[in-house]
Amino acid sequence: MTINIILLGPPGAGKGTQARRLVEDRGMVQLSTGDMLRAARSSGTEMGKRVAEVMDRGQLVTDEIVIGLIREQLAGGGAGFIFDGFPRTLGQADALGQLLSETGMSLDAVIEMQVDDEALVRRITGRFTCGNCGEVYHDQTKPTAVAGVCDVCGSTDLKRRADDNEDSLKTRLLEYYKKTSPLIGYYYAKDKLTQVDGLAEMDEVSAQIAAALDGTGPKA
Ligand code: AP5
Repeated sequence: MTINIILLGPPGAGKGTQARRLVEDRGMVQLSTGDMLRAARSSGTEMGKRVAEVMDRGQLVTDEIVIGLIREQLAGGGAGFIFDGFPRTLGQADALGQLLSETGMSLDAVIEMQVDDEALVRRITGRFTCGNCGEVYHDQTKPTAVAGVCDVCGSTDLKRRADDNEDSLKTRLLEYYKKTSPLIGYYYAKDKLTQVDGLAEMDEVSAQIAAALDGTGPKA
């Protein structure tokens, strides 16, 4: 069965962590606009440089750029797409609806991951990722088994993101509440919304998402 879903939530809610589990457990395809934009910024092109400045400030990149990135990736899809960090504005949500209907696909569920701001600061300031395989870690809640070495691929290229600091996080949160949180009502009205407790342990969050996708969890 093919399922296309959106993981919706503020920075640090655990979208990337849960998306990677869904890829592994269900063979779904993760489409993270954040990852695509980080790849664009490291390309060194003029567009990449402009994107880097906007991301480091914690602001949103233009709808035009991110919709273009998603359009390029919307083929294949295995057991379905996980939209991680997209859409983030009402304009992007409308564009996604249009793109899915043009390609004969549907949106099956929007999972809102609820986490309070205090926890988000702790999560963002403690996060690091593997530069080789993308595995996400945390100083306290998910350290590597051997310090400085990725558990998954053995790489020692562990990094912190340039926008993972308290100043940039403040702007990212403001952008979320101003521009992205209206999507909660937008998808509720379309009867697509399910809320999960993003403050729970990672395995418990995964179980709540699985219940939502298998139709056994409560709807918003
Ligand atoms: P993006 O890369 O999408 O970042 P984000 O939305 O800010 O989300 P994060 O990746 O920071 O957090 P996450 O929810 O994935 O949490 P994670 O699983 O890592 O976007 C970055 C920037 O790109 C934006 O600011 C913007 O400039 C631009 N951009 C991207 N998409 C855009 C779009 N559509 N439109 C315009 N601009 C766009 O978890 C965080 C930490 O918590 C980790 O350390 C993890 O180990 C830990 N953790 C996770 N779950 C738990 C748990 N249950 N309990 C304890 N710890 C946990």
